[in-house]
Amino acid sequence: MNAKEHISLTDQFGRVHDYLRISLTERCNLRCVYCMPEQGIVLRPKSQFMTTQEVIQLATHFVDLGVNKIRLTGGEPLVRNDAKEIIEGLSKLGVQLAISTNGILVDKFLETFKSAKIRSVNISLDSLNEEKFNSVTRRQEFQKVMSNIHTLLKENFHVKLNAVIMKGVNDHEIMDFINFTKNHNIHFRFIEFMPFNGNKWDWNKGLSYKEMMERVNLYFPGKVIKLEDKKNDTSKSYRIEGYKGTFAIISSVTNPFCDTCNRLRLTADGKLKNCLFSQNETDLLGALRNGADIKPLIYESVWNKKSVRGGMDTFEDLSNSDLNQKNRSMIAIGG
Ligand code: GTP
Ligand code: 5AD
Ligand code: SF4
Repeated sequence: MNAKEHISLTDQFGRVHDYLRISLTERCNLRCVYCMPEQGIVLRPKSQFMTTQEVIQLATHFVDLGVNKIRLTGGEPLVRNDAKEIIEGLSKLGVQLAISTNGILVDKFLETFKSAKIRSVNISLDSLNEEKFNSVTRRQEFQKVMSNIHTLLKENFHVKLNAVIMKGVNDHEIMDFINFTKNHNIHFRFIEFMPFNGNKWDWNKGLSYKEMMERVNLYFPGKVIKLEDKKNDTSKSYRIEGYKGTFAIISSVTNPFCDTCNRLRLTADGKLKNCLFSQNETDLLGALRNGADIKPLIYESVWNKKSVRGGMDTFEDLSNSDLNQKNRSMIAIGG
């Protein structure tokens, strides 16, 4: 066994975890219907959340254990006052750094992204129609988000756009989303609507991978090219013949991709979640503040990771609100 293998964060199923998603905050400047419970979430005192230094200290432990990619998420990661300092601090860890954001504040961070070598920016965009976008996000930021997407493209960032597809909300826009990839080097991803605490999930509102592809194949007969996916990708990607950009589907509900999962999550209050759907969390921030040894806690959490969706193996399990409501709301996980 070489040194790398020795320190790898491997679980009982042989999956090696080298990708950490860090949620920087539970706050957000949007109120997306599929993410934020209608009544909002209880805002807790700042002392319960990781400080700038604590984010970097905890991230450093993961890097020591083989993590080579860190994606910042939220809430909205860029609403944190110290987002710039955190990004700069993490950029010194020698990992691939990326961010998932709603895009509103991106123009203020372009130089920070560049100096931190952030190349991959994922942005939520649930509609290309201003009114619809504003109704899904319950705020009025469409123009700002669109202009920031164009700025990122001009600056040659690798941009992925995320649309959570919901029936009667934006499912009729799938072809518009794909047409947006005709002249833009953009990667549009359609995400199956997932259940989280308080998001009023009902699969009657969801559209499956299969249904999406049936519609796409009908609309673009003979022109849909399947692309090769990378081992740990969450999405199945495609290109329409001759189009500059691509589109992809994230099918966590009907076709989970857990067998190749390499992801861990650190929540803004310093808890380690070994899966997006995990109900158990490990309090790393408490341990750090008590001067305890962090690494054994990380190993233990990874080892105990369930094989599929935090133990909700079947569609019936995932649909069972006794099970799916035990997780946090998405705003407090970070996607
Ligand atoms: P990269 O692969 O690094 O580009 O990131 P990503 O596409 O996983 O991240 P992003 O933050 O853009 O998330 C897009 C969608 O994928 C969101 O709906 C996430 O909840 C979902 N997603 C991200 N990671 C996981 C995961 O580990 N499991 C599941 N089931 N869904 C995930
Ligand atoms: N189902 C699927 N995707 C979701 N996201 C947020 N909530 C949900 C949900 N309930 C996605 C957003 C964001 C990404 C980080 O997570 O589209 O882009
Ligand atoms: Fe990984 Fe859990 Fe997502 Fe499956 S559901 S891919 S195990 S994080």
